[in-house]
Amino acid sequence: MMACQEWPEPAIRVQALAESGLTKIPERFVKPKSQRAVSNKNYVPNQVNSSLNHNTTNINIPVIDMKDIYGSDKAVRATMLRRVSEACREWGFFQVVNHGVSHELMKGAREGWREFFHQPLDVKEVYANTPLTYEGYGSRLGVKKGAILDWSDYFFLHFMPCSLRDQAKWPALPTSLRSIIAEYGEQVVKLGGRILEILSINLGLREDFLMNAFGGEKDLGACLRVNFYPKCPQPDLTLGLSSHSDPGGMTILLPDENVSGLQVRRGDDWITVKPVPNAFIINMGDQIQVMSNAIYKSIEHRVIVNSNKDRVSLAFFYNPRSDIPIQPAKELVTKDRPALYPPMTFDEYRLYIRTRGPSGKAQVESLTSKCDSN
Ligand code: OGA
Ligand code: NI
Repeated sequence: MMACQEWPEPAIRVQALAESGLTKIPERFVKPKSQRAVSNKNYVPNQVNSSLNHNTTNINIPVIDMKDIYGSDKAVRATMLRRVSEACREWGFFQVVNHGVSHELMKGAREGWREFFHQPLDVKEVYANTPLTYEGYGSRLGVKKGAILDWSDYFFLHFMPCSLRDQAKWPALPTSLRSIIAEYGEQVVKLGGRILEILSINLGLREDFLMNAFGGEKDLGACLRVNFYPKCPQPDLTLGLSSHSDPGGMTILLPDENVSGLQVRRGDDWITVKPVPNAFIINMGDQIQVMSNAIYKSIEHRVIVNSNKDRVSLAFFYNPRSDIPIQPAKELVTKDRPALYPPMTFDEYRLYIRTRGPSGKAQVESLTSKCDSN
């Protein structure tokens, strides 16, 4: 698979489209019925199993208080580690509070990015991206001509390794944004390192195992994708982001404080995440599924939109070094549980979603069948 140089069609800026005051969304954004959040118009809420897509509203993904890990009480720490372990196995998603990242910085980052998206279009177009690296201002994922599009724009940038960090490619407006991104990136990368240690311990590995498997602190990959989901006049017909699993290691998401939208798949249900104040949402990506030999699984998620509020989210992707083979940890491969995935670099792996766009868990699932080395 080759990386494409150009988009197959001129970019449609969804925010500009939404602000034009249209009352019906263009055909290009209308999802097939089976993908819509409300697929069954006749759905009656108290009729059990009546719809594949009903939302179970009274449950939420687990919330983990990270101060319990670093306190002196060993029993509290053990309980906390177990809760993270359960969250990873049962949900692949959890929220963290007391995570060490400054709340003020989180707020500043969210506000700074919101301000960027509210700049005039020509200011943003300076950063227009291409599918070659995806860096910059973009409005689609995947290069299939005529594909049905998602109701969002985004900005994508590299933070790690340092050789790829280029502040000239980051927004110059608002003027404080570059320094906010730099500080935010530092703090979130640290948080990612602490979570990798917890995952390593929980998998029965040395605490530095995953960090080493990711290529080490200097060479791991980290990028930020800031999503802007404009108001949508027909929210039930489309999605802000179609169902996908994140291709990388893990994702540290800062959701909007005012409006929910992220939904996580649990069996046949979609659970709408209710963000806790000042929390990050953590989820496992495909590379953790590979390294853990599917003890932890990446989880499908999607984003719904609404008609009266736009939404901003900052998805920080904490990825392995992109040019080393990623494979199941030898310690987690046994006679009874052979390696489920062949080695592949992340550079090679991510071409799939970059070419085809979001498509559930199709990629990581297709790998298993290719693994005949055992
Ligand atoms: C993503 C993603 C969720 C959100 O960017 O990969 O899943 O809430 N974002 O915006
Ligand atoms: Ni995602």
